[in-house]
Amino acid sequence: MLSLIYVSTAATQMNDAEIEAITTRAAARNANAGVTGMLAYNSRNFMQLLEGGGEAVLSIMQDIERDERHESIVYLRQDSRESRECPDWSMRSLLTPLVGIGSASVFTGSLPRTMELDTKMLFTSFASSLTADAAQRHAEQEAALMAGTGAAQND
Ligand SMILES: Cc1cc2nc3c(=O)[nH]c(=O)nc-3n(C[C@H](O)[C@H](O)[C@H](O)COP(=O)(O)O)c2cc1C
Repeated sequence: MLSLIYVSTAATQMNDAEIEAITTRAAARNANAGVTGMLAYNSRNFMQLLEGGGEAVLSIMQDIERDERHESIVYLRQDSRESRECPDWSMRSLLTPLVGIGSASVFTGSLPRTMELDTKMLFTSFASSLTADAAQRHAEQEAALMAGTGAAQND
């Protein structure tokens, strides 16, 4: 069975609904082709695992490569594995980055038990990498939260 992982850069910043749309469509096509895997998005980059029959995976990957919603695809791994790491997910998306305390362990715990350690480590480190955009948004959210708390205290 062929298993591959790539990272890419989103052409524009996408919202949850856009990621959901990609995932729903992907899950339907992958299910037909016997392909499984997972997609992580950290508000700037994608990391995706695809696994299944060699022809099926490569043919889907050809479409993904042509997709203008992302660019600069870099393959991190492409090898043959004995068994599937995400046997129950025809495609599932996980939105990151992880900013809350303890969220990395929750994230790792939510990965399939069948996923191998090297893959879990790749996804967890991807999920923990905070882009400048995301860091800025997080700081703004925190500031808004603090302002809200302050206002409540002054009342
Ligand atoms: C980051 C990313 C991941 C994608 N993953 C898949 C996938 O796993 N399977 C799939 O069929 N399409 C996936 N797509 C969508 C394909 O690139 C392509 O748009 C789609 O397969 C075309 O199908 P349609 O024209 O029949 O709707 C992905 C697109 C992006 C941007």
